[in-house]
Amino acid sequence: MKESLSKIKKEILSCKKCPLWKKRKNAVPGEGPKNAKIMFIGEAPGKNEDATGRPFVGRAGKFLNYLLEKNGIKRKNVFITSVLKCVTNKPNFKFIEICKEYTFRQIEAINPKKIVLLGNFAIRTFLGKKIKVSQIHGKIIKYENRILIPTFHPAAGMRFKKIGKLMEEDFKKI
Ligand code: URA
Ligand code: SF4
Repeated sequence: MKESLSKIKKEILSCKKCPLWKKRKNAVPGEGPKNAKIMFIGEAPGKNEDATGRPFVGRAGKFLNYLLEKNGIKRKNVFITSVLKCVTNKPNFKFIEICKEYTFRQIEAINPKKIVLLGNFAIRTFLGKKIKVSQIHGKIIKYENRILIPTFHPAAGMRFKKIGKLMEEDFKKI
């Protein structure tokens, strides 16, 4: 039997495997249907996410919502998470290496067809440390029995108009 999403969530909520647990108010496991067809993976919760325990509810989340809506994707139908589940504004690969098993287990539990990677940290977690989002964004990449769609992080898309436009193009491929 496949492991359940709620079991993974429970583990994340009490996880102390890396030092980021000390600064969190709430771990942010992610949210969405247990059989979502599409998953979005960001880098780490920020202040608003830490306060609420929900992913992408701050300003970057507003931009993500805009991109979803523009493409007729309902947020309630997709699963949204990040490669780190505890708040930080300085993600690093030492902690991602420890935390990423949760995201991989969530993928196995949900079994999505498409995984959208938001920004360099998510992209490098899946595709290797040397890859740059600017080179790979918008490309469809086969990954086991799924596809990966790398794009920029919504925080960058929100701040820089040019990146926002590139993200709009990339999101059409979802
Ligand atoms: N940025 C992320 O990468 N993830 C969140 O959950 C919020 C902001
Ligand atoms: Fe655990 Fe991940 Fe939080 Fe570190 S960031 S404490 S590994 S859930």
